[in-house]
Amino acid sequence: MKRLICYLPILLLFMIVLSSCGNNTNNTDNTTTDSTKTGVTQKDWGEFDGKKVSLFTLTNKNGVQVKITNYGGAVTSWITPDKNGNKSSIIIGFDSLQSYLRKPPYFGALIGRYGNRIGNAKFTLDGKAYQLAANDGKNSLHGGNKGFDKVVWDASIADTSTPALTLHYMSKDGEEGYSGNLHVTVQYTLTDNDELKIEYNAETDKPTPVNLTNHSYFNLTGDASNTILNHTLMIDADNYTPVDSTLIPTGEIKSVKRTPFDFTAPQKIGSHIDSVKGGYDHNWVLNRKDSSLKLVAVLSDSLSGRKLEVYTTEPGLQFYTGNFLDGKFINHDGKPINQHTALCMETQHFPNSPNQPKFPSTILKPGEKYHTVTIYKVIVNRQT
Ligand code: GLA
Repeated sequence: MKRLICYLPILLLFMIVLSSCGNNTNNTDNTTTDSTKTGVTQKDWGEFDGKKVSLFTLTNKNGVQVKITNYGGAVTSWITPDKNGNKSSIIIGFDSLQSYLRKPPYFGALIGRYGNRIGNAKFTLDGKAYQLAANDGKNSLHGGNKGFDKVVWDASIADTSTPALTLHYMSKDGEEGYSGNLHVTVQYTLTDNDELKIEYNAETDKPTPVNLTNHSYFNLTGDASNTILNHTLMIDADNYTPVDSTLIPTGEIKSVKRTPFDFTAPQKIGSHIDSVKGGYDHNWVLNRKDSSLKLVAVLSDSLSGRKLEVYTTEPGLQFYTGNFLDGKFINHDGKPINQHTALCMETQHFPNSPNQPKFPSTILKPGEKYHTVTIYKVIVNRQT
């Protein structure tokens, strides 16, 4: 007995070491992970370009779930309760990799190397002209033919107490016409305050434009048969960048006052949308003095009692009302995704910045660290 008591501490130590080995969740090959520690599970989702694709489910202590695939780094759903406690996804998306391979318009995806448009698909940097793929009329949109939304990212479950997923992609020198090997790391974290935090980091070995964003389409009702026209939106921006007929900014920074672009006070999206040709698809110049993390937009829906706050370090916000959605794709709730079924709030630098010396620069140079943060936070007014 005395002997047993003597060995007990050694036995205990051995058990602790064993259990901590089991908690090592940095290995992406695991099909199941220790969800009690990290709140993340991993499911096999198929293969693309010879690489394994997974679906990761992040669950926080409130039971809120965000699903993300490493194909395009896309957020496929975000399941939260509404005011009555009924759960549904506030993000448009699909349940299978096959559906994403049908090239939907960037549903939930990470966008790069340059989010939004570059006019005439070209720019000049340090005296050298660069030609990009013209995949949106004569312009380049969202990184070109095969942007970051159409590649498989390396994924690892972060060893943190809050559920987090780290994605890495190396965009090669010359890819889609851009110069420099660009290492991009994006970390998604689902906090216990029901926030989806997205941190973008990048480094290059040659000067290159970089503008990373996420292209989630939101419908706070959680039901794709409702449009977003009854949602109310506030954007903390006194100005926006007017565009030409191909959606390239004219270069002017224009006041939103007395225009349908004035969302400085909460406004119903449908109120003036008819006076904006094609619907909203513009960049708002956010009111800010520096690049600190700041609340820039609030979206709300009375039907579900849900509210979404957007915080960012970025200078611009592309507010897009899903104008080109046409019912061709079916949402995970079985409903067709029609025009205005959902909207995007893409935090970013201004479109066509590489050709607009007056806009804040998007050029990343060797030795510099690209770092931006955006947080989407859901708040639900529960009915008692
Ligand atoms: C962005 C653009 C839109 C449209 C969508 C994808 O938000 O601003 O014009 O191209 O992507 O359809």
